Amino acid sequence: MTTTSSRLSTSQGVPVTGRPGGAGPVQPTVVNDAVEGPFDLVDTVFEVADVSVFYGDYEAVRNVDMKIGKRRITAMIGPSGCGKSTLLRCFNRMNDLIPGTRLGGKITFHGEDLYGDHVDPIEVRRRIGMVFQKPNPFPKSIYDNIAYGPRVNGVKRGLDDLVEEALVGAALWDEVKDKLKQNALALSGGQQQRLCIARTIAVKPEVILMDEPCSALDPIATAKIEDLMQNLTRDYTIVIVTHNMQQAARVSHRTAFFTADVDREGVRHGRLVEYDETSKLFTTPSDERTEAYITGRFG
Ligand SMILES: Nc1ncnc2c1ncn2[C@@H]1O[C@H](COP(=O)(O)OP(=O)(O)O)[C@@H](O)[C@H]1O
Ligand SMILES: [Mg+2]
Repeated sequence: MTTTSSRLSTSQGVPVTGRPGGAGPVQPTVVNDAVEGPFDLVDTVFEVADVSVFYGDYEAVRNVDMKIGKRRITAMIGPSGCGKSTLLRCFNRMNDLIPGTRLGGKITFHGEDLYGDHVDPIEVRRRIGMVFQKPNPFPKSIYDNIAYGPRVNGVKRGLDDLVEEALVGAALWDEVKDKLKQNALALSGGQQQRLCIARTIAVKPEVILMDEPCSALDPIATAKIEDLMQNLTRDYTIVIVTHNMQQAARVSHRTAFFTADVDREGVRHGRLVEYDETSKLFTTPSDERTEAYITGRFG
């Protein structure tokens, strides 16, 4: 553990251990407004201030400001190519792994500059885990998939309990407890995605980033992941990119709608158009572009 990590960890007392879509009007159904207060009352995990993201000379995302609330699900929606994945990858510095990527503006994590010189990107990625579009288990046993991260972190004792805890947390334990030695690739797609979520939570992150986690899954597997996300917010902050507006409406507390502006040279730049409580954004959006998108007239 570096000095950096402990600074990152202590600033807010954060533990270190740590249905298919379609066009048309969207009715939010499962939004947790009951537990939601004004944004200022929710602890801020990330603050994005005037962030632009460049691939070489190309500015893929331009001047984004937004805050991500603790133990909330924040959804990012918008047409393909508007920079949702690009911005999501900034939250755990995954873009650092793509040569030529540059970030303008500032992203803070619990008030500390996520891109500060002293910050260790590896530690950042442990604290801020990621689940991808296509389930990507290692070609190893179910057990070894989950134990992988803790082992890399030097955990030797109590692995059985850790594996069980992560699989219970990802709502997969009952389905796999009798076949932990089986190859993870033999699981169904939906089970593989829950396995990937279990693998992510096994290293006790604080935030889980999800990039279209259900787009390769059938409706039943999708519903299971959505239920799981609701349960995970007891312990985790979740940011999800989804092309599925119904999914955003069902699972998220806040939704950010992005689109791409075309400049004079014909170059497209991703912009954040509107960011609000999910129920508000889907019922009475403030911007006509949001309205056009959610009613299926654009995108
Ligand atoms: N590694 C990359 N190198 C160069 N351009 C990229 C790279 N990844 C994405 N882009 C471009 O950045 C823009 C935003 O892409 P992306 O973040 O994937 O959008 P979304 O997730 O909203 O579909 C697109 O124009 C895309 O082609
Ligand atoms: Mg994407």
